[in-house]
Amino acid sequence: MKASGAEGRETARVESAARRAWRHGVKSAKWEAAAGSADELAVQLAFLAVLAVGGARVASGEIPVSTLIAFLLYLFYLIEPVSTLIEAVTSFQEGAAAISRIAQVERLSTEPADRRRVSLPKQGAAVPDPASVRFEDVSFRYRPGLPYVHRQVSFEVRGTGMTAFVGPSGAGKSTVFALIERFHEVTGGRVLVDGKDVQDWSLSELRSAIGYVEQDAPVLAGTLRESLVFAAPGASDDDIRDVLARTKLDTLVERLPHGLDTPVGHRGSKLSGGERQRVAIARALLRRPRLLLLDEATSQLDAVNELALRDVITEVARETTVLVVAHRLSTVTGADRIVVMDAGRVRAVGTHEELVTEDPLYAQLAATQLLTPAR
Ligand SMILES: Nc1ncnc2c1ncn2[C@@H]1O[C@H](COP(=O)(O)OP(=O)(O)O)[C@@H](O)[C@H]1O
Ligand SMILES: [Mg+2]
Repeated sequence: MKASGAEGRETARVESAARRAWRHGVKSAKWEAAAGSADELAVQLAFLAVLAVGGARVASGEIPVSTLIAFLLYLFYLIEPVSTLIEAVTSFQEGAAAISRIAQVERLSTEPADRRRVSLPKQGAAVPDPASVRFEDVSFRYRPGLPYVHRQVSFEVRGTGMTAFVGPSGAGKSTVFALIERFHEVTGGRVLVDGKDVQDWSLSELRSAIGYVEQDAPVLAGTLRESLVFAAPGASDDDIRDVLARTKLDTLVERLPHGLDTPVGHRGSKLSGGERQRVAIARALLRRPRLLLLDEATSQLDAVNELALRDVITEVARETTVLVVAHRLSTVTGADRIVVMDAGRVRAVGTHEELVTEDPLYAQLAATQLLTPAR
């Protein structure tokens, strides 16, 4: 906000919201006060009326005093239930307003409930088998009415090794990962993991096989340890040490004042971009995934972080299926195969050497800013 010079506008926005809340508060307090006094006023008036009319009749000898007293007693008995009734109507009104908000939330579509607990593979256990991923004529849009993000996307990845996805931004690369994780349902075609349609997988089983590192690599607030074990709460100190060594974060941890228990700030703001990304990878690796999805950060990394990251991915790809959305030349040149995407379609699949000569878009990407060469 400060950098954009937006303090004034943002303050005004908060103030106008606060004023709106204040106006509604005053209005509801007025109504409440009016209802409360009206209720009491009615009771007092009824009392006065009974006393006046009854008194006059007693004076004229029409009714005996005992009848007047009986009426007054009826009135006393009635006061309480009547005011309770009015209170009930008031709280019903308040409740109805809250219920309509809750109903709005309840109408939001949700994922099918999957209460099964799938335990993650034990650390130190045999290396899990790599996975396979297959897209068959997948078409997809985020909502009806929006343009298609994928049109007839088909490719297959099997076994260990690294597959890189490249293409201009908006081509649909990150969406490929979202569909594999089944955050959304495909509009047409099929997504298969291990030869089985993701719709036939139980969600927890599917996701326990996958480690996903998002593009902006979020690190949660709290300590470094909390951020690491978020996806694998059962991880022991040994597991963490092992994963830190693999992601070359061990030197960072040694440098931190309280080691693993150092707070990392809001969304990891006390870490550098490269460190954040490697923390996110370490978190994904702690799940011992069979399939690692890595959406590379677009921001520049320094040479040291770049090299560390490349080593980590190469190392992981030796025993796991790794899919990377690549923004760096060093990542694609090290990939076993490259899928070039453009405007929701797969343009070409091949190795760097093949694609540089065969695919003009890839050649252009490799030569220009979208893929920045390693320094
Ligand atoms: N949650 C969403 N809702 C609606 N449209 C989206 C959503 N996420 C991405 N898109 C759109 O889908 C297209 C592809 O996005 P994405 O897969 O993130 O591209 P890439 O990762 O290749 O840059 C973009 O045009 C983007 O605006
Ligand atoms: Mg993306």
